[in-house]
Amino acid sequence: MTPSPPPRNRSRVRLLTLVGVLAVLIAAQVCFTPFPDWRTGEASSHLERLVLRLTVPEPGREPDVPFVGTPQAAVERMLGMAALTTNDVLYDLGCGDGRFVVTAAQRFGVRAVGVDIDPARVLDSRRNVRKHGLEHLVTIKQADIFELDFSDATVVTLYLLPHLNVRLMPKLAGLKPGTRILSYEFDMRGARPNRVVDFAGQGQQRHKIYEWIVPWEPEPPAPQAGSR
Ligand SMILES: C[S@@+](CC[C@H](N)C(=O)[O-])C[C@H]1O[C@@H](n2cnc3c(N)ncnc32)[C@H](O)[C@@H]1O
Repeated sequence: MTPSPPPRNRSRVRLLTLVGVLAVLIAAQVCFTPFPDWRTGEASSHLERLVLRLTVPEPGREPDVPFVGTPQAAVERMLGMAALTTNDVLYDLGCGDGRFVVTAAQRFGVRAVGVDIDPARVLDSRRNVRKHGLEHLVTIKQADIFELDFSDATVVTLYLLPHLNVRLMPKLAGLKPGTRILSYEFDMRGARPNRVVDFAGQGQQRHKIYEWIVPWEPEPPAPQAGSR
C-alpha cells in the first residue's frame, strides 16, 4: 500500500493540477480563436481584443504626449468653429481614438486624415472609422507628426502641449492662406490667436479652444519682468 502524501504536499498537488487545467483551457481558447489582424483591428470577442493588444507592435519611439481624448462637447465646438465644408481636408495631428476625424466626416462630410505615432491608437482610430462606415472619407496614418507632410490640410486640430504646438509652427505657418488651426486647451506662443473660446461643458468642466487662421499675426513679446 502506498502511503498518502502529507497534507501540505496534497494542497500543493491540488494547486498545481488547478493551474495545469487553467493553462490547458486558456491555450485551447487561444488556439481556437481566429488570430486578429492588428492592421485592420478586426476583433469580435474580448479574447480576440486581448490577443490584439498583446500583438500590437510598440511605437517606433515614445509619443511626445500620451493619449487623452478631447471631450466630445469640445470636439463638436471646435469643428463648428472651423465652419467645415465638403471642400475641406481636416488633419488631426495625434488622432488618439479618431474622435475628431470620425465626427468631422460624419457630421460635415469632409475628408479627414488622422495621424498618430502609436500603433495602438492607430488601431483604435481605424476601428472607430470602420464602426461608423467612414472609410471612404477618413484615412488613418501611422506617422510622426513632425516628419509628416500635411500641406494639403485646410483645417488642423490639435490637442498636444504648448511646446509641441510651437514645434509645429514652421509647418503650420506654411499651410494655405485661410487654413484654420484649432487647439484644445493649449496656446502657441508667438502666434496671436484669431479667437479664444472658453465655455462650460458637462458638470461645469471648463474648455478652452484657441483658433488661428493662416497667416496669423505674431504675438507681441511677453512683458519683461520688472518692466513698466
Ligand atoms: C492628448 S492625445 C489627443 C488625441 C486626439 N487628438 C483627441 O483630441 O482626442 C495626443 C495624441 O498624440 C499622439 N502623439 C504624440 N506624439 C506624437 C507624434 N510625434 N506624432 C504623432 N502622434 C503623436 C499620442 O499617441 C496621442 O494619441
